[in-house]
Amino acid sequence: MSIVDAKEMLLKATKGKYAVGAFNVTNIIQMEAVVAAAENRKSPLIIQSSVSPTKFLRPEVLVAVYRTLADNSTIPICLHLDHCDDVEYCKTCADAGYTNIMIDASKHDIATNILQTREIADYCHRLGGISVEGELGTVCGIEDQVKVAEDEAALCDPLQVLEFIEKTSIDLFAPAIGTAHGVYKTKFPKLDFERLYRIFQILNGSGVKTPLVIHGGTGLQPDVVKKLVSLGGSKFNVSTDLKHALIDTTYQYISAHPDEYNPGKIDQAVRKSIMGRIDYWIDLLGCAGMA
Ligand code: 13P
Repeated sequence: MSIVDAKEMLLKATKGKYAVGAFNVTNIIQMEAVVAAAENRKSPLIIQSSVSPTKFLRPEVLVAVYRTLADNSTIPICLHLDHCDDVEYCKTCADAGYTNIMIDASKHDIATNILQTREIADYCHRLGGISVEGELGTVCGIEDQVKVAEDEAALCDPLQVLEFIEKTSIDLFAPAIGTAHGVYKTKFPKLDFERLYRIFQILNGSGVKTPLVIHGGTGLQPDVVKKLVSLGGSKFNVSTDLKHALIDTTYQYISAHPDEYNPGKIDQAVRKSIMGRIDYWIDLLGCAGMA
């Protein structure tokens, strides 16, 4: 049985100074491939779905597939709802069996953010076996229906962090430190490492209590990824990379075999390509063998 919530997995990762990959999936082929790759490397795993694919496939379907894959696997696996700004839909997914919920109320003022985040934390904790992620400041770029222009993006204020955690009772914290969803316009985006270090010290300097989440993994260079992990990021989100792998591989396969009409072959090519990407991230994050 390897159905777990994210908190225990990430406390262990924070103490061990590695990060667990949190991979956004949009279909069942991706989901199976992500699990197969993590199983091969004996790595803990977080599967995530954004709100649109979750609504399209339905949370009960995703949970049923997740439970089947996790039950037949030896590694700990968490199913996470990503960037949900709708309080009621967070509850729907918690009821359906998600084991980690991100309530993203970061577009609101801090008082409303605290109120909504607390409501979801209380709800999930009452249900049991579900951890909750909250965000302070806004991660720029585009992730599913949550879109933030770069000039609106506000970084997380370290002076607000303790109050936010205490008043919301969340389990995982996502501070905006300059990372962005999607493909970066530059190879060297300006990230605030010092801010991440300060936030880590505030929360975990005297004993690890609240694991930190890094959003916007795709466009980061390998040395930057390693630095963010060394500074305490223990949940590392990757979405765009897997969307590109899915679409590029499908396009390339169909272009190379225009007369074949065999969906199973396309699925196999996509599975192989996704597994290759997960391997890449597991190596960078240092989580191989940590299951
Ligand atoms: P990328 O799409 O940049 O990998 O970001 C993923 C993410 O942070 C999901 O929450």
